[in-house]
Amino acid sequence: MKKYQDGFPNNFLWGAATSSSQTEGGFDEGGKGISTMDLMVYEENIDRNKVLSTLELSEVEFNKRLANNYLNYPKRRGIDFYHRYAKDIALMAELGIKVLRISVCWSRIFPTGFEKEPNSNGLDFYDKVIDACLSYGIQPLIIMQHYDIPVEIVKELNGWENPKMIDLFLKYSKTLLDHFHERVKYWICFNEISMLMSSPYTGGGILSECSKTDLKTMKYQAAHHQLVANARTITYSKKYSGLLFGSMNAHLEYYAATSNPLDVLESVKEAQLNSFYFDVMIKGKYPSYIVRYFHDNDINIKIEKDDEEILQVGTSDFIGFSYYMSYMSSASNKTIETSGNIVGTLKNPNLKLSQWNWPIDPVGLRISLNRIYDRYGVPLMILENGLGAQDILTNNKRVDDVYRIDYINAHLIQVKEAIRDGVDVMGYLVWSAIDLVSATGHEVTKRYGLIYVDQDNYGNGSLKRYKKRSFDWYKSVIESNGENLD
Ligand code: BG6
Repeated sequence: MKKYQDGFPNNFLWGAATSSSQTEGGFDEGGKGISTMDLMVYEENIDRNKVLSTLELSEVEFNKRLANNYLNYPKRRGIDFYHRYAKDIALMAELGIKVLRISVCWSRIFPTGFEKEPNSNGLDFYDKVIDACLSYGIQPLIIMQHYDIPVEIVKELNGWENPKMIDLFLKYSKTLLDHFHERVKYWICFNEISMLMSSPYTGGGILSECSKTDLKTMKYQAAHHQLVANARTITYSKKYSGLLFGSMNAHLEYYAATSNPLDVLESVKEAQLNSFYFDVMIKGKYPSYIVRYFHDNDINIKIEKDDEEILQVGTSDFIGFSYYMSYMSSASNKTIETSGNIVGTLKNPNLKLSQWNWPIDPVGLRISLNRIYDRYGVPLMILENGLGAQDILTNNKRVDDVYRIDYINAHLIQVKEAIRDGVDVMGYLVWSAIDLVSATGHEVTKRYGLIYVDQDNYGNGSLKRYKKRSFDWYKSVIESNGENLD
């Protein structure tokens, strides 16, 4: 029997997370090609509850945006991390973080995706970012695809719907592994792999109306291609020792809306569809429940002869997941009453909502950690958790974000409880170290950072960085190894 662990272990990986399209800017510098995220525009009047609809693009809109430079594209500016990475990482290092999660923008390395050789300027940029992290004793964690996909791939192949994507991705993933393996230990292929289901464009570079099959089959076919690419990348990485590969998904913790057995059954089914990706990436095979789901929904995906073996061999070492909220399942009521990460949900009367109408449920994180660990028995890393809020920079340049402290504090207390429950939690990465452009709203004013960036949704502002109150607080949490949480 293993020993009781009372609180955070000494080697706990305190950290922070970011992504390329939300921070870098420099969208046309260093030989970078245009990426799918460079086409996301900020729409001022969008209803916060409908914000998920901004993740999809039609073919007409895709072509229009490619040709139009006058729309407001905050993701092309990011927070100018491309030019300010050195000072930003120095600031983040003051927090005492042990891990910084970044993503690599595919089109910086292969501008169209189809080149034979990588763009050395792109590799140079990440060399500098990684070396800066290491100089402060921060371990970088790399995500290879955090929504960013070269647009030529969309035009030529309709993204991950096409099996040719597997080889294109392998060329890219092997390039990253060959180049960075001596300096980067933690790796993940896809951010929130289930994103494909709610937004094929964001998760897979797919224009749904250009698909050759029905929507459901197309989504699971694309997911299959990503799962095979993930497994083959992991298998390739074995040539280097000491690397750890994680699976990453947006974990959706489903509660039954009532104790009616039909609602409970619905919550089981919804949870299964969300666990599907971990089941394949950790257990190495398609789970039995998906067979019936495919049958009932007339989903017919093509699985090549060797794919099952590939999936079985290339499994992940740990599970990484994002957690923001819990969800409600009902067999009879499918109304979306509150917004949320990836999908919306029914309103849980027991929970308060954030300014963007996302339910706040710290105990749900403890439940998730317990359930995921019971199911897979591999170490877990919380790769994203944090609060999007409208911050106010005072005249003396402070942001008094007690609400963010309350949110993170409450979640960390539950992480500590889960560790006491016996769950092997490797680390916690706050989303985010620094304000960035929101993934769904494509806006800066939904702020997640512990560091404030003086910029608005139109690119106005000095871009100066200011530590928020939450910065000092998180720093003290790390210093005390979580002992001072209250
Ligand atoms: C996660 C994404 O789904 O949620 C991040 O991986 C994103 O990229 C985060 O920023 C919060 O979502 P949003 O839409 O509030 O930025």
